[in-house]
Amino acid sequence: MKLETVIYKAYQKLKNNNIKSAMLDSELLMAKAINESREYIILNSNKDIGEKDYNNFQTMITQRSNGKPIAYLTNKKIFWKYEFFVNNEVLIPRPDTEIIVEQVLKIYKNKKKINFLDIGFGSGCILLSILKERKDFMGTGVDISNHALKVCKINAYKLGVKSRIRLFNSDIDKFSLGKYDLIISNPPYIKNIELKYLEKDVINFEPRLALRGGLDGISEIRKVIKKSSELIKNGGKLILEIAHNQKKEVKQLLRKNSFYINSVIKDLANNDRCIISTKIND
Ligand SMILES: C[S@@+](CC[C@H](N)C(=O)[O-])C[C@H]1O[C@@H](n2cnc3c(N)ncnc32)[C@H](O)[C@@H]1O
Repeated sequence: MKLETVIYKAYQKLKNNNIKSAMLDSELLMAKAINESREYIILNSNKDIGEKDYNNFQTMITQRSNGKPIAYLTNKKIFWKYEFFVNNEVLIPRPDTEIIVEQVLKIYKNKKKINFLDIGFGSGCILLSILKERKDFMGTGVDISNHALKVCKINAYKLGVKSRIRLFNSDIDKFSLGKYDLIISNPPYIKNIELKYLEKDVINFEPRLALRGGLDGISEIRKVIKKSSELIKNGGKLILEIAHNQKKEVKQLLRKNSFYINSVIKDLANNDRCIISTKIND
């Protein structure tokens, strides 16, 4: 059967299962099945597909119909300017999180060297993107998930920044190594009770460890702020991603832990998304 016929049938199946980007996803999964680029598929749509590739493709289309995210099927996600390896042990990097990278580059544009910490690095998307942009920065990462550690190591190797990072597998509560100029974190911040309202693609496939923010949604943020106040240098900055409705509570927590609030940055949908603060003398 020709590639275009197989892709069209897959497109119809995905569309019938309410997958919004049905054509794009069919092409991306075909590219993965035959180990070629999407451009190759488009330019060679009248070529025949082999039996093994066909079966492999159909398996992926069934998984996609059941909601498995395309990033987990292709094991790829673009974040900032780079392609990251991802699997279902790490959160799929979100475009809104790029705000943290953007802010770090803006704040430290005249600073040659800093030593920073990423709490809950996951795939490594924030940590490694910053290291790629700033050749003299040194990064440390801590994540409670050992699987995330493996994924982040793969990405650090792929992006060529291995020599400038240290990664630790630990609960942030038990971590006490070093003093940092900057701490960044995109911690889990969904209230446990609200997990069930997340889109099926998210709740059925992404790791709970990356989503669960405890009963009030800010249990992990609380830990991150408390630990950061010990791990950060005086005058150092803490940049946190938050949910759209957590600004007030998080600002209070920050002030209680001797942080001065510099600014709150909105995302593309105009929701409060990121808080920038500075550690001041107790
Ligand atoms: C929302 S994900 C963010 C991942 C990545 N930084 C990103 O932006 O895509 C949160 C990450 O925090 C980690 N995590 C959750 N609780 C933690 C804790 N108590 N200590 C350290 N890491 C934690 C999870 O394993 C997960 O990788």
